[in-house]
Amino acid sequence: MITASPNIPEEQVIENTLRPERFAEYVGQEKIKRNLDIFIRAAKKREESIDHILLYGSAGLGKTTLAHIIAKEMGVNIKVTSGPAIEKVGDLGSILTNLDDGDVLFIDEIHRLNKMIEEVLYPAMEDYKLDIIIGKGPAARTIQLDLPRFTLIGATTRLGALSNPLRNRFGSTHRLEFYTPEEIKHIVKRSSTILNIGLDEQGAQEIAGSSRQTPRVANRILKRVRDYAETKDFSTITGAIALEALELYEIDRLGLEPTDRHILSTLIHKFKGGPAGIQAIAAVTGEEIQTIEDVYEPYLIQLGFLARTPRGRVVTAPAYRHLGLTPPDDTQDTLI
Ligand SMILES: Nc1ncnc2c1ncn2[C@@H]1O[C@H](COP(=O)(O)OP(=O)(O)O)[C@@H](O)[C@H]1O
Ligand SMILES: [Mg+2]
Repeated sequence: MITASPNIPEEQVIENTLRPERFAEYVGQEKIKRNLDIFIRAAKKREESIDHILLYGSAGLGKTTLAHIIAKEMGVNIKVTSGPAIEKVGDLGSILTNLDDGDVLFIDEIHRLNKMIEEVLYPAMEDYKLDIIIGKGPAARTIQLDLPRFTLIGATTRLGALSNPLRNRFGSTHRLEFYTPEEIKHIVKRSSTILNIGLDEQGAQEIAGSSRQTPRVANRILKRVRDYAETKDFSTITGAIALEALELYEIDRLGLEPTDRHILSTLIHKFKGGPAGIQAIAAVTGEEIQTIEDVYEPYLIQLGFLARTPRGRVVTAPAYRHLGLTPPDDTQDTLI
């Protein structure tokens, strides 16, 4: 599974190799780049840190990359952690007190921070203060530490899962969009140069078309297609080679993988096209709810194949047609 596979070490290495380091190399997301560029210039001019930034969007769209670029453009250090990694208040305390003035603290999956830690984060974000409790019971007392003027960059795939108080403490919130085929083509061409892989125009086109409009998937597919080309002794990825490889990996022309098709066909065959609850879909397909919601659904929704309604998930007519099925008469083409 190319889309959902967890980061195996080898893929992590390639991902880091391909990570753009400057805005100039970061393809697309023009509005976000323009805004951030203004913030950064202004902050540098005033010799201040930039306000806290929240980035949200589907997995693989470039949130982590953007956080690193912001730090680099500011000329400051970045410290990376994640919501689930900060287990105790003390963990956050030691991270915060080890920052330098102006540093970026990047918290990935920030929606998974626990409540107690969030509460410590509020005064840290707002007033650069850290309250720590020393001792236990009646003898306990609070002391307050001054923190450096850091910039928090939070990333999340689910804006809705963030508590309001936390959301409100970010100076700006930016939503990353899916990429156009042209942008993805640009990204895989750049990647092929870095990885020293021959890739022609048609090859780039086919890979872009099957990449779920997502850079991470595009780079992973590029790598798999390269592996396939090598077994065939081809030094350049052509359109024909890309198509053969994609077929072998069971990725279709829209970038759907077996699990995507399984989710759609389950909805169609077991739930008459829906609505069906996410728990039921997870139970029948054997996929985890979180994986369905974070990995598969966003792109199926982006394609207009699936919709979330108050009563559950519903399949649209184009999804039936994509699977070679005839939609029932009452199936909607698009959903509200
Ligand atoms: N705008 C972009 N231009 C070029 N490459 C990108 C872009 N966005 C993401 N990538 C590449 O895709 C991969 C995944 O990006 P990442 O920032 O880790 O995504 P996220 O944190 O949103 O899951 C990285 O290898 C990165 O180099
Ligand atoms: Mg990331």
